[in-house]
Amino acid sequence: SRRVIIDTDTAGDDTMAILMAALADSIELEALTIVSGNVEFDYEVENAKYTLEVAGATDVPVYEGARTPLVKDHEHADHVHGEGGLGGEVIADTDVPSAEGHGANAIVERVRESPGEITLVCIGPLTNVALALRLEPELPELVDDVWVMGGAVNTLGNDTPSAEFNFWVDPEAAKVVVDELDVSLVDWGLSLRRGTFGPEMLRETESIDTEYADFFDTVSTRAREFARERHGEESTSQPDSLTMACVLNPELVTESSHHYVDVDEREGMTRGYSLVDENAITEGERDTHVVDDVDGETFETMFLDMLRYGDP
Ligand code: BDR
Ligand code: CA
Repeated sequence: SRRVIIDTDTAGDDTMAILMAALADSIELEALTIVSGNVEFDYEVENAKYTLEVAGATDVPVYEGARTPLVKDHEHADHVHGEGGLGGEVIADTDVPSAEGHGANAIVERVRESPGEITLVCIGPLTNVALALRLEPELPELVDDVWVMGGAVNTLGNDTPSAEFNFWVDPEAAKVVVDELDVSLVDWGLSLRRGTFGPEMLRETESIDTEYADFFDTVSTRAREFARERHGEESTSQPDSLTMACVLNPELVTESSHHYVDVDEREGMTRGYSLVDENAITEGERDTHVVDDVDGETFETMFLDMLRYGDP
């Protein structure tokens, strides 16, 4: 089975990605490393532990990582995930202790111990992974696969008109990671197209009577309201669990391609923009595996199976 470390800014959809990994038989969830992103750092740490409690997986160590981006001031997205990051109604407060050591060190130590065996799934800003790269320049050879939820591939952003949240929060880190590691990228545009649950799917999730489904309901409360205010219709996007689902089930990916990808870290309107050289105009190395399409129905089935049977 695949050994996975999830690097996460646990709030909202991050919880569902963690739940999926913790419940899936085909994955061994090694550790969680927490990075500053969605909400206040300490909330994220608690949210991660709370999610592991729901999954019955509190033996998975939670390492606290970077509390701020590399260079930028940090910005949160409480307005999307609710105060605390679990929808706004619950504030997680567990008794679970954090594991000893910094998240970036934990990544480095674990890949050194098991070269070529660990898959990194990055569903938050990329600060911890960039730090890990600086601590261990051999990281690209030591990891198995690296999956990243981030960027907006030749499409509009969600945090600024040009940038997706994870890349926007720490553009310098995103640039380093995309540049130095061969990553598989699940971007915001794909998440919108295939990883957004509308009213029909939400009626389905509401009809399920399990602790997992209740948890999903709670954590998506604020995001669903937010969508209603903004678009007049309830919905919630699940970029992070879509990314995890691709790791779990490679057949989910129906189209993908390799491109040179760069991230704009300069001050200004396009800070955090992900440039994808789709027409191979530059000489840049075409080492980013961009997921162009997935089977959205299969993703929904996996998600529903997770909520229904605890088995994605
Ligand atoms: C990303 O930003 C976060 O709010 C989500 O958890 C996801 O990782 C989407 O842009
Ligand atoms: Ca996230």
